[in-house]
Amino acid sequence: MENSRKGDSIPISVTVGHEPLHPLPRTQYGHFIEHLGKCIKGGIWAENESEGMFLGGVRPELVEQMRAVNPSVIRYPGGCFADGYHWKDGIGPRDKRPRRWNRAWGKLGLMTGPIEDNHFGTDEFLRLCEELGAEPQITANVGSGTAAEAADWVEYVNGPSGSGWGAERAKNGHPEPYRVKYWFLGNEIFGIHEIGHQNPQTYAKTVRQYAEAMRRVDRAIKIVACGTFMPTRKREHIHSTVLGLAGDVIDYLSIHFYATNPIFPSSFLNYQILGRHKRRSTKVYYDVMASLRAQETYLSNCIEDVHKYAPAGKKIGLSFDEFNTWYSFYSDLVAANQNLRDALWVASSLNMFHRLAPDLPLTNISQMVNVVGIIVSSHRATFSTPSALVYRIYTENAGDELLRSDVDGPSLPHKIEVPALDVSATLGGDKLSVFLVNRHLDAEVVTNFSIDGFKVEPSAERIELHHNDAFKYNTNKEPEAVTIDRKPENLAVTVKDGSSCFPLRVPPHSLTCLALNVTRPLRPHKR
Ligand code: AHR
Repeated sequence: MENSRKGDSIPISVTVGHEPLHPLPRTQYGHFIEHLGKCIKGGIWAENESEGMFLGGVRPELVEQMRAVNPSVIRYPGGCFADGYHWKDGIGPRDKRPRRWNRAWGKLGLMTGPIEDNHFGTDEFLRLCEELGAEPQITANVGSGTAAEAADWVEYVNGPSGSGWGAERAKNGHPEPYRVKYWFLGNEIFGIHEIGHQNPQTYAKTVRQYAEAMRRVDRAIKIVACGTFMPTRKREHIHSTVLGLAGDVIDYLSIHFYATNPIFPSSFLNYQILGRHKRRSTKVYYDVMASLRAQETYLSNCIEDVHKYAPAGKKIGLSFDEFNTWYSFYSDLVAANQNLRDALWVASSLNMFHRLAPDLPLTNISQMVNVVGIIVSSHRATFSTPSALVYRIYTENAGDELLRSDVDGPSLPHKIEVPALDVSATLGGDKLSVFLVNRHLDAEVVTNFSIDGFKVEPSAERIELHHNDAFKYNTNKEPEAVTIDRKPENLAVTVKDGSSCFPLRVPPHSLTCLALNVTRPLRPHKR
């Protein structure tokens, strides 16, 4: 592949196949919230609670912004916080709940979290999920908790109202069980930063103990065990141990990846110098795009591990429950903002997840509000960053099956080979959606489409995320500087050898979703 040059208009051929490759689970559009920085306290849960707010603490405008990204699943309460959290602190009348030191992130720890007042607890989380139509995912405390405590949590959440903890839940206003399916056993448990960190052998025993106790309460739950967080030399050892010793009792393996975090040397293309990403530099822009390759390699390695070490006949999926760009260790943990460049990184990640869907059924961007966050919310303003707009575009337009797409074009001007145009094509009924991420900073792409086996109607819709400035942020003052542009597109379709062909121009550093109305069949030609 040749590198493209600045200012070029790049011709790229895109061929979309007619046979669906695999289903695309909606659980790939998941989110994550944690008691950390301004994610919950001061973000989701307002510092000044008021009766006009949802549940007395969530700003109505934030509920709307969260709803707009159509969250399929939301993971809670951490993250690192989960391994120091005792859930019984967060139920019952709010004024009676204890105030605690946030052991993972609190003022005496890493100075990135407030003292925890526990006003947002299990019922607030689950009722917010109900309001948003999202499926909750809960991380049990493996670091400083016990299997019995986790089993009690399952009973509080899923038990009948006649059971001990189920009756407590009913007393707290929710007689119906919440029926939470996904339960995580700890978080990043092999890292020395994690409360109660364990080695893989010990953790495998812990997993068996927790899974048994929790399933005694509810047999229907799905268990997610920790795998590695970030690429590490120990990756294969960790995965072979956990899958070998506890693979029979788990359903998913949890993995994490953050691009360009200066404190994780293993993030490959990290910056080392805090704040360097803030520079409007072409080099930084392309380094961020190139970090997608490191993420892809990490995911392929994890997939290979699962294929190699999961017990014979047992399907274990990966739960990629934390990923995002993350530049500044401290400040992004309190409250971050993401610009258009970051949104293109996120869109490319979603395309990647589509391709890996059979092995990667669960993914959660980290995090939903403020912390490394895609929605920004405070008492001053609430708005979606361009990354949240990416989630709107995908969840509103992606079909439930993936089609093959082949791209023939140049790569970015970078030492690591990254194609300039990244494509994913999905099918849902008679709507064929093509997601095109033009990652080139300066060059427009002239796409020559060939859609095999479908008759494409000339009238289509173009949904675009673009701004002249690739480094543009939405801010309190300009909350809609980067917005979604929807417009009708009239395509010059010609039919050739059983394929519908047409050209489409795509601006530099943009995400374009082309929503096509299609009918079958045009007889696809043999390739
Ligand atoms: O998302 C912030 C933190 O990053 C999470 O708590 C942890 O799991 C990861 O290291």
